Amino acid sequence: MMESEGIAGIEQFDSPGKGRGLRVSRAYGVGELLFSCPAYSYVLSVNERGFICEQCFTRKKGLAKCGKCKKAFYCNVNCQKKNWPMHKLECHAMCAFGENWCPSETVRLVARIIARLRHQRERSPSEKLLSLRDMESHMEDMDNEKRELNEAHIAGLHHFYSKHLDFPDHQALLTLFSQVHCNGFTVEDEELSNLGLAIFPDIALLNHSCCPNVIVTYRGINAEVRAVQEISQGQEIYTSYIDLLYPTEDRIERLRDVYYFSCDCKECSTKSMDKQKLKVRKLSDEISQKEIRDMLLEMCELSIDKMSTVFDDSNIYILHMMYQAMGICIFNEDYDGGVRYGEKVMKPYTVLYPAYSLNIASMYLKMGRLYMALDKKSTGINAFQKALAIMEVVYGKDHAYVTELKQEIRGE
Ligand SMILES: C[S@@+](CC[C@H](N)C(=O)[O-])C[C@H]1O[C@@H](n2cnc3c(N)ncnc32)[C@H](O)[C@@H]1O
Ligand SMILES: [Zn+2]
Ligand SMILES: [Zn+2]
Ligand SMILES: [Zn+2]
Repeated sequence: MMESEGIAGIEQFDSPGKGRGLRVSRAYGVGELLFSCPAYSYVLSVNERGFICEQCFTRKKGLAKCGKCKKAFYCNVNCQKKNWPMHKLECHAMCAFGENWCPSETVRLVARIIARLRHQRERSPSEKLLSLRDMESHMEDMDNEKRELNEAHIAGLHHFYSKHLDFPDHQALLTLFSQVHCNGFTVEDEELSNLGLAIFPDIALLNHSCCPNVIVTYRGINAEVRAVQEISQGQEIYTSYIDLLYPTEDRIERLRDVYYFSCDCKECSTKSMDKQKLKVRKLSDEISQKEIRDMLLEMCELSIDKMSTVFDDSNIYILHMMYQAMGICIFNEDYDGGVRYGEKVMKPYTVLYPAYSLNIASMYLKMGRLYMALDKKSTGINAFQKALAIMEVVYGKDHAYVTELKQEIRGE
């Protein structure tokens, strides 16, 4: 391995409570570029095909397409040639699978990382401070849901890429997917549309703050880090991993879920903006859950009225609104309202969903409970029976849901 050369003005250090971090060895002013990093691996979103070059991410008119698959677009032959080692992982497969070619963006990115790792001997220009292998993975912190997601990704990888890739062992794949999960970047344009997914190892050293002093932007396949606050010598640099619009509780939940930490930034401890973010136009101090629900119901009703002038009752947009309205009525213990919306939803549901559907079963169940609450016993039992017939098939006759519903029908 080549010795890492570092980046002038930037140093890695142990940030207390945050793992590794980056700090500046001189002051930086607002707008100043701290450093940039070429993507180690990247993938263009399927939606952007034809508008952006697969290789250099230049946006321009008149890109030329791959003659084989006709799905990849390039500035010129030069970009096409450079891109071939990555595109060949997909070119044939896309033709072979046709309509059924649908790996997730994460899977596509990991395939490219694996291909690159195979051929890479020396440390790349994307790894002046941190090599890809050393990125945080949080393997120990993952819950079952995350593990299952990773397993599904791995299955996708084997399904769509086995022809052109030698895979590392299962454990190494799990690590890779976990690393991508908490170190991957979505590349966005100036309207914040998603262009693709990429890995920038050096930039993955940046820790998060909800009052960030730098912002990461993209120029082609390079990421650039610029100061958005005055940064004095020795200060840690922080970017934001998330949309900062949301109140503290929401931000903390998101950071915990994806990145496994709780933020201790100034905004998270003072919550100074939460009040404004959750402000209501009312003289009385608190707005109750009930009032919020009533407002939502009013919005649903208005939309339903307006939509009925254009859409039929079986239109899914109006169905969705009525389903929401039903939920709000139930929450407000307005069972008559709930039944009214429920009955409207029920009919199209039975037509639009397959006969054995969890959605239909749950609707019959909800309706049954509403009828019972309104003392309409025989209508209620009738709905329960319909739910039961589906549930015995989809859950199995020995499932607790089925036995419990039978008890409910017997009035136990
Ligand atoms: C992209 S990495 C940043 C570099 C990381 N510290 C490392 O050593 O690799 C993201 C991880 O850094 C940690 N991290 C980032 N910001 C943090 C913060 N404000 N407080 C605590 N941990 C943080 C979390 O473990 C998170 O999953
Ligand atoms: Zn190009
Ligand atoms: Zn092709
Ligand atoms: Zn914070």
